[in-house]
Amino acid sequence: MSPRHPRPRVALLTGASSGIGEALAAALAAQGTHVLLTARSVPRLEALRGRIEAAGGRATVVPADLAAPGAARRLFDDVERLALPVDLLVNNAGFGFHGGFETEAPAHVSDMLQVNVVALTELTHQFVPALLARRGTVLNIASTVAFQPAPFMAAYGATKAYVLSLSEALWAEYHGRGLHVAALCPGPVETPFLDAAGPGVRSTAVFRRLLTVADVVDAALAALESRGPTRIVGRLNQLMAQSARFSPRALTARISAALLAPVGTRATQSPTGRLP
Ligand SMILES: NC(=O)c1ccc[n+]([C@@H]2O[C@H](COP(=O)([O-])OP(=O)(O)OC[C@H]3O[C@@H](n4cnc5c(N)ncnc54)[C@H](OP(=O)(O)O)[C@@H]3O)[C@@H](O)[C@H]2O)c1
Repeated sequence: MSPRHPRPRVALLTGASSGIGEALAAALAAQGTHVLLTARSVPRLEALRGRIEAAGGRATVVPADLAAPGAARRLFDDVERLALPVDLLVNNAGFGFHGGFETEAPAHVSDMLQVNVVALTELTHQFVPALLARRGTVLNIASTVAFQPAPFMAAYGATKAYVLSLSEALWAEYHGRGLHVAALCPGPVETPFLDAAGPGVRSTAVFRRLLTVADVVDAALAALESRGPTRIVGRLNQLMAQSARFSPRALTARISAALLAPVGTRATQSPTGRLP
């Protein structure tokens, strides 16, 4: 069966230096897509470019710090100068924090909002006209944490709820006009994200069972070929995300708190929990 969307010829991936972005970039390059790799860690991006080219693929490094105001505009301009017609934008760069909301450093919160929300929105906004003309795709990496509040990851969870909402709205806005917008919602994944999120995160009920990066890449490639707006990675994660819709909101928030609480702060942790 032929895919519902043509294979991308040129893809820009944010957060390509690590984890999901790095693996997805390699997978797309292996399928023949010229991948434009962006993040702050230039040596890691160059190493990935080297591996892709050694395997016969094409890759270009375009460094950017998306926490800097105006970074999306500058990245768009840098990509324009390459004169490579991007037909897939993967907004993957992001990070989170686990712990009490009041303990999060103000600069960390600002940077997270800038990367996870502002840069993602501005980059999408910059690229949409060209992607509409090319019948392209925007793939936004959200999270299963988007489906319910995330106590102890409150601001991070809110950024992912934003990404999911934006993506589904844009999917409906552009559906039928040639531009495909999709949100990918992985549950917890074994990547450096976990170490960056803080020492307590692995002890929580939610982060005990982890997806692999390969699981997420498979789901991302499937999302690129489907017509739907949202893809949740993992069957159990799908069930958990849907069940939150039918529960009273206070109950959902309290269950989330129990599942995401750092060890020692809550006595009640459901062994079945598998939220974000
Ligand atoms: N791992 C999970 O459990 C999980 C679950 C659901 C969703 N997600 C989402 O999946 C996406 C990828 O995360 P991951 O798990 O692959 O984590 P990761 O391995 O830590 O990768 C995060 C990527 O974001 C980039 N990034 C961070 N800050 C940046 C900045 N200021 N400017 C530019 N790039 C920046 C990093 O590159 P540099 O540091 O080189 O800049 C890195 O390439 C994120 O949006 C995350 O929220 C992760």
